[in-house]
Amino acid sequence: MKALGAWIEDRLGLGPVAAFLAKKEVPCHRHTILYYTGSSILLFLGIQIVTGVLLALYYQPTLAEANASVVRIMTEMPLGWLVRSVHSWSATFMIALVFAHLLGIAFTKAYRKPREATWLTGVLLLGSSLAFGFTGYLLPWDELSLAATKVGTNLPKALPVIGTWLTQVMRAGDDVTGDTITRFFIVHVSVLPLALLAILGVHIFLVQRHGMSAPLEAERDKIKLPWLPFWPNFLLREAGVWFVLLGVLLTVAVFLAPGVGPQADLMAPAPEGIKPEWYFLFMFQTLKLFPARILGLNGELIAMLVMMAGMAAVLFLPFIDDRPFERKGKVITGLAWAGLAYAIGMSIWSLM
Ligand code: HEM
Repeated sequence: MKALGAWIEDRLGLGPVAAFLAKKEVPCHRHTILYYTGSSILLFLGIQIVTGVLLALYYQPTLAEANASVVRIMTEMPLGWLVRSVHSWSATFMIALVFAHLLGIAFTKAYRKPREATWLTGVLLLGSSLAFGFTGYLLPWDELSLAATKVGTNLPKALPVIGTWLTQVMRAGDDVTGDTITRFFIVHVSVLPLALLAILGVHIFLVQRHGMSAPLEAERDKIKLPWLPFWPNFLLREAGVWFVLLGVLLTVAVFLAPGVGPQADLMAPAPEGIKPEWYFLFMFQTLKLFPARILGLNGELIAMLVMMAGMAAVLFLPFIDDRPFERKGKVITGLAWAGLAYAIGMSIWSLM
């Protein structure tokens, strides 16, 4: 064993990494539970990659075959219905956890100096995760996925100068067609995974570089916190959380497997009451509330600009909230709660 260890060490030189992990510690306090969110996202990301590769063995991204190949996955591929169900539910769990991770970090202000870049890469990871959801939704090519993609890809059109071009790039033409399926598939299985893994590499590097943040009050009042060794104590606890999550995921996937509607018809009118996935509901409702014209201007454009301003505020939050210990920090926390209440309220409203 020793000789094997030395052989590996001579070739890979992993000694410093092992020494780093042996020394790594995690602070213990009432928000420690938040530290499990990041690793749980990694669990679901792994599941997405494995189940996604299995699905791609059977799926065919063309107008004639997209819907039929999903039906074949569910009826002919060994355990195909379960693989598809796990892929679909794990996507939901992963995005829910990305939101929980972001909110936990936002409300504990863990983005404060020196973790601004960690936050920036995190927002890019959120964007990539949502893009995975958006592109994946079209692939079964049924009535709902076609209608939702038409609405979603129509949004950029409201933007001046580049709007129409953006919509054409997303759709691979003027309308959503078979070419859109192929384009969305390529983005879903190659562009987004490469982008997400590259950004994730930087994110995890920065997390290791800075270590886990201590709570705001502990830093302000210079309170000494108890620390837990990462290896093996914290990692074993994380493994426990993973097993529970895996159990919940499999139970839900077995009992609530998603179906697939009849093949989309390009000539058919949009069905009544279409809704996007739950994570886009608040934007969908916001857009519905804006009138077609506001003071002679295009209402959709104004809605888009308001939402883009909201996204920019989230992206640059660590720089806006640059004095977290002072009054300004408290005002920003209040605004963040208001923003969260708005997003939840709008999502519920859109379902009524
Ligand atoms: C694919 C999505 C993501 C993955 C896999 C991921 C992974 C992780 C992991 C493993 C950690 C260390 C443990 C923990 O704090 O939970 C972490 C920390 C962190 N993440 Fe993420 N993350 C993701 C998305 C995000 C998002 C959306 C944000 C915010 C916009 C974000 C911001 C941060 C910050 C600031 C830390 C440091 C927290 C601290 O030091 O207390 N991450 N992330």
